[in-house]
Amino acid sequence: MIKIAVMGYGTIGSGVVKVIETNQESICKKTGEGIEVKYILDVRDFEGDPVQDKIVHDYNVIAQDPEVAIVVETMGGVEPACTFVKAMLLAGKSVTTSNKALVAVHGAELIAIAKEKNVNFMFEASVGGGIPIIRALNSCLTADRIEEISGIMNGTTNYMLTKMTQDGCEFEEVLKEAQDKGYAEKDPAADVEGYDACRKIAILTSLVAGQQADFEDVHTEGITKITATDIRYAAKMKRVIKLLATSRQVGDTYTVIVAPFLLPEDHPLYNVNGVFNAIFVRGNMLGDAMFYGSGAGSLPTASAVVADVVELAKHIGKHIELEWKPQKLEISDYRERTGRFFVRTRADRENIASVFGTVEYVELAEAAGENGFITLEMKEADYEKKALQLGNILQMIRFH
Ligand code: HSE
Repeated sequence: MIKIAVMGYGTIGSGVVKVIETNQESICKKTGEGIEVKYILDVRDFEGDPVQDKIVHDYNVIAQDPEVAIVVETMGGVEPACTFVKAMLLAGKSVTTSNKALVAVHGAELIAIAKEKNVNFMFEASVGGGIPIIRALNSCLTADRIEEISGIMNGTTNYMLTKMTQDGCEFEEVLKEAQDKGYAEKDPAADVEGYDACRKIAILTSLVAGQQADFEDVHTEGITKITATDIRYAAKMKRVIKLLATSRQVGDTYTVIVAPFLLPEDHPLYNVNGVFNAIFVRGNMLGDAMFYGSGAGSLPTASAVVADVVELAKHIGKHIELEWKPQKLEISDYRERTGRFFVRTRADRENIASVFGTVEYVELAEAAGENGFITLEMKEADYEKKALQLGNILQMIRFH
């Protein structure tokens, strides 16, 4: 029996215990031995729960037990998760985590410690929940130079935008519904402001670049300013608004941005609806590939965590090379990115023509007293200058 410990018995941690119990037999065939959860670290006691006897409150109990070979971290947040994970790696245990906040900030450092101690640090569930994107990048797409990763990496906002598109309702209304259904948190900022997707694309960019992409350098806009009118304009253009996290190689670096984008009908992410996530990857040899599935939720996320446990169990005593150096990647200024922009303004057509030149107008009967138009392709920096010159901008959404 391989003995493991789970740190954090919340939504994902309890899912991990359930996945191991439910699929013990098939997991055993893959690892060659069964997996037993020996400890669960939590501040709570879980009296009366079947796991009550496994609960410990001091992480040192796990760190000091030589029987425990693998530790799962599903606590969330940077601290104390980071302290606990470091202690486990230094004690010679392999670790898997679902914690994107931890991986985005300390990924390179934790991989380096794992290498030094000849163990492994894995984090499949930190991006895209149950979608196996990290293993795909680290093991399957290694023959390619990755030119672009773009994805819908947040289920809550995708659910909200899908609802706004299907029902024509406003942001506040759909946010309340998402909260009532348990998709959105009481404090929804991490999702609706794009912070969650920002950490996920920073992790993916670090992996494809092989060095540290800081999430603070990623230009991030959420969906809070998207209105029912914007959605109707999008429909007029036969497009749909999606919160994308996108990273594109430009020379030696990447432009990385999280923002609402207008996608055309033929884009592979166009039909990704509801709480689903999808991540589109373009390799210089592979061409396009897309990974689609449940980006959140207890069991899908736990499935990815337990898949890491199986991988870790197969590699006890052997470090798997992973290129993510701590050297900072200088992310290119998002204003250098080129694209077309959909703009809503109170300015008149004469002024629009004098500032933006040739544009394509989008007529929406109910949007009286404003003009909606699509610019030609230009650098974002040029768009910003022109928008300032024109003034009266009500909205700007990027084309993809
Ligand atoms: N809040 C996240 C989402 C959960 O809605 O996708 C997974 O990171």
